[in-house]
Amino acid sequence: MGSKPISRREWLRRGFLFGTVGTILATLGGIILDVWLAAGRFSSAHWTQLALIDSLPHQATVPFPEKGVAILRRGSRLAALSLECTHLGCLMNTMGDGFFCPCHGSEFGPMGEVYTGPASKPLQWHAVLVRHGRVWIHTGKKKQEAEWVFLGQERSGTA
Ligand code: FES
Repeated sequence: MGSKPISRREWLRRGFLFGTVGTILATLGGIILDVWLAAGRFSSAHWTQLALIDSLPHQATVPFPEKGVAILRRGSRLAALSLECTHLGCLMNTMGDGFFCPCHGSEFGPMGEVYTGPASKPLQWHAVLVRHGRVWIHTGKKKQEAEWVFLGQERSGTA
């Protein structure tokens, strides 16, 4: 009436089978979780990819005029400064360490501080993040303060 005892070979076969299936499910779960988290991060739209992090010099301000932003890299820190003039919205040019507005002559320092009007407010900032070695900026609502991201924190930055 009792069930047939399971042989050692059968135990090993079942153990291998469960181990393999468990590994596959754990891997798939990790991938699904990663995609889900990425979708959550990017689903609010307005995230746009700028450059590979390795293409940015370690101590530099790199303008991306086509995106209206400059990436400030200071070693392992990154921030994204808007190149839109706070006077009437013209696109800024870089000038030395800072920025110059070709429309009415406002000048800004390297951190977007006003040097010369008519602009009276400092430049604004975009949220930035680094994901899989690529720099992304959030082109939605800008911020008054710089939001530095530290390399090695691949998912840092806020939407
Ligand atoms: Fe830049 Fe007027 S738009 S100074």
